[in-house]
Amino acid sequence: MKIGGILVHILLFLPILFSYVFMRKNKRKPQKRAKLPPGSMGWPYIGETLQLYSQDPNVFFTTKQQRYGQIFKTHILGCSCVMLASPEAAWFVLVTHAYLFKPTYPKSKEQMIGPSALFFHQGDYHTHLRKLVQGSLSLEALRNLVPGIEAIATSALESWAGGRIVNTFHEMKEFSFDIGILAIFGNLDTYYKEELMKNYCIVDKGYNSFPTNIPGTFYNKAILARKRLNQILSEIICERREKRLSKKDLLGCLINYKDEKGQTLTDNQIADNIIGVLFAAQDTTASALTWILKFLHDNTKLLESVKAEQEAIYEENDHRNQSLTWSQTRSMTLTQRIILESLRMSSIISFTFREAVVDVEYKGYLIPKGWKVMPLFRNIHHNPEFFSDPDKFDPSRFQAAPKPFTFMPFGNGVHACPGNELAKLEILILIHHLVTKFRWEVVGSENGIQYGPFPVPQHGLPARFWGESSNNNNRRHESER
Ligand code: HEM
Repeated sequence: MKIGGILVHILLFLPILFSYVFMRKNKRKPQKRAKLPPGSMGWPYIGETLQLYSQDPNVFFTTKQQRYGQIFKTHILGCSCVMLASPEAAWFVLVTHAYLFKPTYPKSKEQMIGPSALFFHQGDYHTHLRKLVQGSLSLEALRNLVPGIEAIATSALESWAGGRIVNTFHEMKEFSFDIGILAIFGNLDTYYKEELMKNYCIVDKGYNSFPTNIPGTFYNKAILARKRLNQILSEIICERREKRLSKKDLLGCLINYKDEKGQTLTDNQIADNIIGVLFAAQDTTASALTWILKFLHDNTKLLESVKAEQEAIYEENDHRNQSLTWSQTRSMTLTQRIILESLRMSSIISFTFREAVVDVEYKGYLIPKGWKVMPLFRNIHHNPEFFSDPDKFDPSRFQAAPKPFTFMPFGNGVHACPGNELAKLEILILIHHLVTKFRWEVVGSENGIQYGPFPVPQHGLPARFWGESSNNNNRRHESER
């Protein structure tokens, strides 16, 4: 009995003894904790914001990468950040571990675009909305847009021709806005189109201004214009519902959407997503187009080869008596490579932001909860390890597919750009008409980059455009003089 009692005590005591020994052992050898990445956090409060904005932002990122490697910490715009210049790290954040990071934008920007726009969200709402946007921009849907895009492209080019100086970026913004409207609404009444354009321009001006809501400021004007946009969009939505038109454009998809519980989207949710898509589509595509015109202008041999490719299609179409076909747009191999190389060189979206929703460990480094995480697309696109002689414009490098995760002009993962095929299509169609029927000359020889916030050639690339026939006349006059 006595021995039994002792045994029971030992059995009860043993686990406690073991856990004590185990804990002591752990105490003596603390578990290796992940450390913050290398880097500097700059001054209290302002961090390294001044260093970032007092120079070309790419110089800031590149210098940091040279000093600290592909993962480094910093503090900008009031936020602690981890910057990632390695393809694997970008892949980790955007694709494989995207659930550990959420999209993050300043509140004032969310308010301006519309808080229900898909890119501010993650989870079910984002997934549903994304499916609708992706569906309305699928290859099947885009195929039907070719004639509409062609009409917008030729009318834009004709309006620039005549030799006056135009701001290429501004004109491209108008062009990409019109294409956005086409993709969202199909053929929209001119009155509505003009009202949307007028008010959207005011929102666009206020978007990057200081967010003070005092009457007369750009920000305040933008807030008021955004409210008017809601009213205009409500009218359009109401008309579409009354007419019971079952169109497959984005507006049609948004209006007809019902979730598994039969819940539809509110007018505000529809409006926020329409403005969101217009916003995501406009400056990005306009900036890409402006860069392409610059690169082609600066590389005469390539321009000749693109002309040859496009003129063959032009001949095939009996000198524009027949419209471009979808399959012709898919066969423009050299022009497609020029688009990809321009996107790599200019890296319009130089980086993106996410926020860690929990403490995350990556390759022994800690990314604390609440810190911003920035995959640096531009650094990856300009790394000589992945793209030899990275500052040289060389479309032939795209004859072979880039190494995995090294080319992300349209992002990657759950928030990757759903408009990438539309962007490429409208660029191909505009280039086709530009090089077969027009000629252009860049005015001035400045080679700088301007950030607004996307990189654009200096002063928006001022240029003159001529139609081929007036161009021939001009040349004749010049030789007669
Ligand atoms: C050359 C032109 C374009 C470029 C370079 C571009 C680039 C990008 C990038 C990098 C992202 C991902 C951002 C992130 O992960 O934080 C994105 C997202 C997005 N883009 Fe584009 N884009 C272009 C044109 C367009 C067009 C034409 C549309 C629509 C018609 C569009 C609609 C969107 C939308 C709605 C999102 C958010 C997707 C989501 O959050 O799920 N983009 N774009």
